[in-house]
Amino acid sequence: MIMLKIYDDKHYTLRARAELVAMPLGKEDEILALEMLKHIEQSQDEEFAAANNLRAGVGLAAPQVGVSKRIIVVHFIDEEAIYTTHVLVNPKIVTNSVKKAYISTGEGCLSVKEDYPGRVYRSYRITVEAYDVLKKAMVKIIAKGYEAIVLQHEIDHLNGVLFYDHINPDNINKYQDAIEL
Ligand code: CO
Repeated sequence: MIMLKIYDDKHYTLRARAELVAMPLGKEDEILALEMLKHIEQSQDEEFAAANNLRAGVGLAAPQVGVSKRIIVVHFIDEEAIYTTHVLVNPKIVTNSVKKAYISTGEGCLSVKEDYPGRVYRSYRITVEAYDVLKKAMVKIIAKGYEAIVLQHEIDHLNGVLFYDHINPDNINKYQDAIEL
C-alpha cells in the first residue's frame, strides 16, 4: 500500500504554480489522482486515521504531495449523507459569482498545522471546467456554497496560494457582504 506524504506550507511545491497535466491522461497521473482520493477517503475513516496518524481532510491538491501538477480531489459528505466527489485534472474556474461566501469556522488545510482563524471570502458560486478522472471525460461543474469553497481552496493550491493568504491581516473578521456557511 502506498501512503502519500503530505508536505507542509514550507515545502516549495506549496508556493509554486503547478504545471498543466499532459492529455490524454497518462497512467502515472491517473494513479496519482486516485491515490489522492484514497488518502482523503481514508483520512475520514476515524479508525484508519487514528491508526495511521492522518488528519481528516475534504480535499487535496497534487502540490501537497510534492507533485507540481494540476490535479485536485474533493470528497465530503453533507447533512443528508450524500457524498460529493471530484477527481479533476487541469481544473479551470471559468465563471465566478459576484456573491461571496465564507465558512463561519474558518478554513483549514492538511499542509497547514497551525490554526489561522479568520474569514476567507470566496465566490459563492463557480463554474469549473476540467478533465474528470472518474468519468473519464471533460466536465463542466457548477458548484455553490461549501462545494464551491472547497474547489476554490484546492485550485488555489495549483497557483501556490494558501487559504490564510486571503485573511485580512489587520482585521481577520473584517466585514464583507457575504453568505456565512
Ligand atoms: Co489545503
